[in-house]
Amino acid sequence: MRYFIYGSPIFLKSNISSMKDIFGKFKVESNFVNSYIISAHATSLNNKKTETNFLYRILKILKTEKISEKNYLEDIKNTLIKTTIPNKKIRLECVDINSRRGYSAKDIEVYLGEYLESIGAKITLKNPEILCYIILFDMCCHVGFISYKKLNFIDPGRHYKILSSGISRAEFKLMEAFDEFKIKAKTNQLAFDLGASPGGWSVFMAKKGIKVLSIDQGEMFSDKIKKLKISYEEANIENIHKLKEKNTQILHIRKKFQDSLVFLDKIKKADIITCDMNISPEEAAKAVLLFSNNLKKNAKLIFTIKCTTKFAKKYVEEAKKSLSKKFIIKSVIALPNNRQELTLYGVFKG
Ligand SMILES: C[S@@+](CC[C@H](N)C(=O)[O-])C[C@H]1O[C@@H](n2cnc3c(N)ncnc32)[C@H](O)[C@@H]1O
Repeated sequence: MRYFIYGSPIFLKSNISSMKDIFGKFKVESNFVNSYIISAHATSLNNKKTETNFLYRILKILKTEKISEKNYLEDIKNTLIKTTIPNKKIRLECVDINSRRGYSAKDIEVYLGEYLESIGAKITLKNPEILCYIILFDMCCHVGFISYKKLNFIDPGRHYKILSSGISRAEFKLMEAFDEFKIKAKTNQLAFDLGASPGGWSVFMAKKGIKVLSIDQGEMFSDKIKKLKISYEEANIENIHKLKEKNTQILHIRKKFQDSLVFLDKIKKADIITCDMNISPEEAAKAVLLFSNNLKKNAKLIFTIKCTTKFAKKYVEEAKKSLSKKFIIKSVIALPNNRQELTLYGVFKG
């Protein structure tokens, strides 16, 4: 079996060790930075878990054909129509790794979609049953499909750009984490957002109806936040009770986390805690543990593990060792929008 794999752009060696964990033996056929085409024996992928996963996508390839400069679009189309795809509602996604020839991935999707529709296929963006992927890599076209229930999109860059509020690039990381860990937000839940400034994560959660207590000595982009019609106020001991009020969305304690703990006995317990502070994992974990006294049982934790070198394992161990005192660590993974960092997902033991 052959696979398209898309992993961390920073921890390249770790991508390979994740592949070893998952596949045992495998052969890299093509490689471009963090994208790989590999061949490996069929394996029960779902049963094999890696300690820390650096690979973001592992997708089976069903058909591969060469594409030429001259018949670029035609060759892509021919590869697709030679692939056996179930007669279901299909969403197409093209990912162009390094074969760009003046067409964007979207141009190719439109071209293929129109053609498939003309021969009776059910192409749709709404409620598809199958995600059919067309990967262009080293002037080869690789095609496969996956149930849309399992995977909604391949290229997170394009997907999240459309949904972003434009406050910070960091916002993409939390979007990915919510998708990846299937976190369902409920209106009026409360979140602590440690290291919140300029506000991407807080805004993302507020847009989902979560009330956010943002903690950061830095400034939030309050004008941009208000333009998005999200209520925002700096917090103090007098107005902290407002978190209970219906119309309050983001309250910002403009202090370091170390000086924010005094606010905690004035508020109810939180359902979510996020931490994106740019400090060592050890220090950040300590902060989360301090705030965990004010969490509900099973509260969700999203925690970025900042790695100052590429020896990611060391930082992961530090974070896990500390956080596992109070959290069940569900997963540590590299998300495509993580830079030199990983994302940990945990659940508060209570
Ligand atoms: C990567 S930025 C966070 C970006 C944010 N998640 C967003 O979506 O816009 C890291 C933040 O951690 C904050 N930070 C660092 N040390 C902190 C501390 N001791 N207490 C509170 N915030 C801290 C910094 O001020 C900085 O704004």
